[in-house]
Amino acid sequence: MILIDGRQTSAKIKEEIAATVSQIKQQNQRVPHLAAVLVGMDGASMTYVGAKVRACEFVGFDSTLIELPEDTSERELLNQIKALNNNPDIDGFIVQLPLPNHIDDQKILMTIAPHKDVDGFHPVNVGRLTLDLPTFISATPYGIMELLERYDIPTSGKHVVVIGRSHIVGRPMSILMSQKRKAGNATVTIAHSRTENLAAITKQADIVIAALGIPEFLTAEMVKENAVIIDVGITRVPDTSKKKGYRIVGDVDFQSVSKKASHITPVPGGVGPMTIAMLLKNNLLAYHRNL
Ligand code: GUN
Repeated sequence: MILIDGRQTSAKIKEEIAATVSQIKQQNQRVPHLAAVLVGMDGASMTYVGAKVRACEFVGFDSTLIELPEDTSERELLNQIKALNNNPDIDGFIVQLPLPNHIDDQKILMTIAPHKDVDGFHPVNVGRLTLDLPTFISATPYGIMELLERYDIPTSGKHVVVIGRSHIVGRPMSILMSQKRKAGNATVTIAHSRTENLAAITKQADIVIAALGIPEFLTAEMVKENAVIIDVGITRVPDTSKKKGYRIVGDVDFQSVSKKASHITPVPGGVGPMTIAMLLKNNLLAYHRNL
């Protein structure tokens, strides 16, 4: 069994980006600039955004963190986004989700200029993805594609079962894997909460991508020998033995499934660490397109 190491791969990608930024600096050009908007004080969001800012520093990007109070109005946030859209110094930006309940997420995401939407959430970018046009692929699916490529996992003609149809993971993942591309050309089944006989379907899979958000859902009985297992789950489960009071659990029962798998991503340390590296990669792409 080969453990797919997301931490090591993510570190390698960040080194590659840092090398590109060094070259940009040597040519006396301005460096890429990523901005993040955080509304309110959600603990997990503050952690994620903090990590994104630190990653910018690591690779040599400029970064701007815009922290707004919880009671920021939708109009104020929309104005902030329009200012970022029009600011030529900012190559790309993200609005960290979830937003407070009084703000309409969709309205916010639709206001982000597609060419600065490095999260890849805007309908124009999702539409471009479905049409095989150059776009920003959202960080989690992009990170999974990168892991499959870098670990040379055969996908052409293989049966991939994606469990979960979310807009930011399952759906784009199913599209990417079916495309004519590296780590693509797969036969894809997308399963979800209404799927009947799920175990019979996952048992046929050469690759299972578990992205349903139920801790330890996928068990050894549900997978075939030598399958490749990608675990997208990141549920916080209360655990008093941990300093933080919780531990992060994936959608895969790692203990049993790892004994059958040819390759498997651990949680933590698999798909999760890839996402920030892919956000940086998208911002570098935005920078080059904007030059
Ligand atoms: N919240 C959790 N993950 C993400 C992400 O990838 N982008 C944004 N904007 N918010 C998130």
